[in-house]
Amino acid sequence: MAIERTLSIIKPDAVAKNVIGQIYSRFEGAGLKVIAARMMQLSQADAEAFYAVHKERPFFKDLVSFMISGPVMVQVLEGEGAILKNRDLMGATDPKKADKGTIRADFADSIDANAVHGSDAAETAAVEIAFFFPAMNIHSR
Ligand code: PPS
Repeated sequence: MAIERTLSIIKPDAVAKNVIGQIYSRFEGAGLKVIAARMMQLSQADAEAFYAVHKERPFFKDLVSFMISGPVMVQVLEGEGAILKNRDLMGATDPKKADKGTIRADFADSIDANAVHGSDAAETAAVEIAFFFPAMNIHSR
């Protein structure tokens, strides 16, 4: 399987619950490496730009409000099949539907506050990684 990179965000609810380390353990346990990371407070303009693809969806305003409600932890994960592997670790968007043992089943409270984001395809991963990290801040190893 090809080595891929994916963009992961630990959302404000999971940062507030102090589970960044537990989520990182899951990435590492699945063979994914953290090759870039930054904790940041998104502005409204940042969140609207990042989620622009969803701007016509009914939940867009709530999603943006939630994503700026506190700091987020943003990272690039690298490994074999990293995009799908991270999506599998995350579980379904709605934590009520997420498989047992996934990050969302274990740490998320609702479809609004669902703990993590992960890129859904190679093209979006490239765009999302470039949104947060210049190449000089990514340390493949
Ligand atoms: S996905 O991840 O694109 O396949 O999922 P999707 O269902 O299309 O949702 C896109 C993002 O919107 C968030 N979302 C919501 N936020 C608030 N309220 C409601 N009802 C809601 N439904 C979906 C969902 O968590 C996705 O955010 P990210 O950060 O991409 O995971």
